[in-house]
Amino acid sequence: MNQSQNLENLWMPFSANQAFKAKPRLMNESRGMYYKKLDGTPVLDSTSGLWCCNAGHNHPTIVKAIQNQAAKLDYAPSFQMGHPLGFKAAEKLLDLSPADEFQYVFFTNSGSEAVDTALKIALGYQQLRDKNEKIILVGRERAYHGVGFGGISVGGLPLNKKHFSLLENVDHISTTHNLEKNAFSKGMPDWGVDLADDLLQIIKKYGSDKIAAFITEPLAGSTGVLIPPKGYLERIRKICTDHDILLIFDEVITGFGRLGTPFAAQYFDVIPDMIVCAKGLTSGTVPMGAVMVKKEIYDMYQKGDPKMIDLFHGYTYSAHPLASAALIATLEVYLGEGLFERVAQLESYWEDALHSLKDLNNVVDIRNLGLVGGIEMSSKNGEVGSRGYDVFERGFHDENILLRFTGDIIALSPPLIADKEHIDQIIKSLKKVISDN
Ligand SMILES: Cc1ncc(COP(=O)(O)O)c(C=O)c1O
Repeated sequence: MNQSQNLENLWMPFSANQAFKAKPRLMNESRGMYYKKLDGTPVLDSTSGLWCCNAGHNHPTIVKAIQNQAAKLDYAPSFQMGHPLGFKAAEKLLDLSPADEFQYVFFTNSGSEAVDTALKIALGYQQLRDKNEKIILVGRERAYHGVGFGGISVGGLPLNKKHFSLLENVDHISTTHNLEKNAFSKGMPDWGVDLADDLLQIIKKYGSDKIAAFITEPLAGSTGVLIPPKGYLERIRKICTDHDILLIFDEVITGFGRLGTPFAAQYFDVIPDMIVCAKGLTSGTVPMGAVMVKKEIYDMYQKGDPKMIDLFHGYTYSAHPLASAALIATLEVYLGEGLFERVAQLESYWEDALHSLKDLNNVVDIRNLGLVGGIEMSSKNGEVGSRGYDVFERGFHDENILLRFTGDIIALSPPLIADKEHIDQIIKSLKKVISDN
């Protein structure tokens, strides 16, 4: 590293700033499956950046589309004005939706904004259809829905709520994660479908006429790769339908091929009422999030005076031209190169490779689905997160691999262009750093 480089002024998000600045981890180039350190050493990306770069890094088609767009139209106002690419981006995204009823897209700049947007749309929808008492939002323990006040409220992570006042009228069902019953399950665990009935308990507590929406990640990634038990999401869907509760899938990490299908909705064959997405939407190249909405919901907002704003919500950069161009090119790459199908082909190799780490010291669970893997380790001296950090840090400095950790869980989600050789390399490096820590 250039010793004169000042690393002080950037307050890094969700980071141990002190430790980073004492021993930095910097990368400044990327291509395909690899980043490069400042000295040119390649770093294998086992996490698609941050669950984003599903098409691999610097794909020429996406790069070119962004470059061309930057030279053509830099920005157009998003309120009361438009540019054709935003509309095309919405149309292209809906081509991947799991059901014909999804006919509208609201663009945001991140997953967090998309979550809060979906929650607002849900609350407004209930009022517009005269269900004025439906004001409760239900989430799940150990869920991550970004960092907006809505997202942390329906989310289930105590540390993310520390210091902050939260939304009222929110409740949570219990997590599906259970090591005693499900440790080392391959794919979806057999045990736990009944946990969906927690939602019935919440309905009993408040009455279904009070509940607006239930939001869930079909598969939770950021909180440590929590895989839904067999039949769980189907049962959640039925309960929501039976009780007139909107079901929102937060597909910020499961969208765009992570499970081998465009969305997890198709993988599990469970159709929600709204889908929140981001990250892989542009393969991480330009910030963008989106909410896909069923026609029935959009239509409810269109009954007033045509000259009046229908939804008092939006972002300066909603459907930004560069993001729209990136989205269109990214989807072209996913579909043109058959990247979703690749996941389906690699899934069993990935599963076997991951589970080969089962007997390593300190490994207490391994879980997988699609091209996602979670390796849960025991805590070092009761200090949650210490082993996770050490494995992650050793991975970068000694093994030249980018890992991701949450507490003592290593979460893996390589770009969808990965080959078996990349998987072998990931496993080899993990074997080393987990054994040494
Ligand atoms: C399921 C889920 N929802 C929302 C978010 C927030 O997205 P962003 O960081 O783009 O705001 C994330 C980010 O990891 C996520 O995994």
